[in-house]
Amino acid sequence: SMPGFVKIVEVGPRDGLQNEKDIVPTAVKVELIKMLVSSGLPIVEATSFVSPKWVPQLADAKDVMEAIRTVEGARFPVLTPNLKGFEAAVTAGAKEVAIFASASESFSKSNINCSIEDSLTRYRDVALAARKLSIPFRGYISCVVGCPLEGVVSPSKVAYVAKELYDMGCYEISLGDTIGVGTPGTVIPMLEDVIDVVPIDKLAVHFHDTYGQALSNILASLQMGITTVDSSVSGLGGCPYAKGASGNVATEDVVYMLNGLGVKTNVDLGKLMLAGDFISQHLGRQSGSKTAIALSRI
Ligand code: HMG
Ligand code: MG
Repeated sequence: SMPGFVKIVEVGPRDGLQNEKDIVPTAVKVELIKMLVSSGLPIVEATSFVSPKWVPQLADAKDVMEAIRTVEGARFPVLTPNLKGFEAAVTAGAKEVAIFASASESFSKSNINCSIEDSLTRYRDVALAARKLSIPFRGYISCVVGCPLEGVVSPSKVAYVAKELYDMGCYEISLGDTIGVGTPGTVIPMLEDVIDVVPIDKLAVHFHDTYGQALSNILASLQMGITTVDSSVSGLGGCPYAKGASGNVATEDVVYMLNGLGVKTNVDLGKLMLAGDFISQHLGRQSGSKTAIALSRI
């Protein structure tokens, strides 16, 4: 069975751009966010309050938030790796944040420079601070089926971290196939273990499309009862600390599939494609969305 509505979480301005070498001007990021909102996307992850030494592309987080302060029609969560990031985000006007852990020990070390347990301790502090201010927070788990450093990741590890994040008070937990190695053959058993410990309506899926498996994985997830999907306009993306990770699944492709299934998203595909054209032109590259390429030829 298929859900009647799928909530798409657009992560292009954050996950999509964080890996771009050439710094994208703040004004371009802001225009991209505005165009994404115009397409009807309910949630646009805007940026990250992380160390600018680790992710130079998002060093303008404060300016981006300032510029979208008055934009209405969508929520703009931001990534916060620690209390310092959380406080900076709130000061900059963030009304919603996301914390990000990993199911792989080595990836945790390379992405946020600490062990899984240390990250969970850190995130409990962020969770406490967020609850005090009534700021909703989402949790991410990276490497839910595979790790660039450790290879196969067992579903039990994912379920463990998911339960910890859920107990901390995350309103939603996004399960990330950071390097895009999963197939329904690994994604389904992973979801089965996580669903045992976290209610399915609190879960989201986040696929990168390295091996072209993202839409199959999304379809399998929807069939299991997932109703929230992360994606990135034009399939932008890649993780700076996950070598070989290619883009996120393209939002245009997700919307095209959901339209075909008769599943509502509230997203206008034509307007979404304008946002995709805008950022692809700026980056000087063809869109990573097969749907956008096909429809632009018609
Ligand atoms: P660290 O070097 O261990 O941090 O980094 P530290 O606490 O030792 O501090 C070192 C310096 O960073 C200090 O500055 C701090 O003030 C500063 P200095 O004294 O050297 O001038 N600092 C900060 N500056 C700004 N904002 C902050 C902040 N915190 C410390 N929040 C840290 C630890 C977590 C900060 C670092 O590793 C980091 O920023 N990592 C972020 C990496 C990242 O953004 N990765 C990509 C996002 S995750 C992802 O893409 C996966 C996902 O999409 C899901 C999926 O696909 O699976 C979510
Ligand atoms: Mg990602």
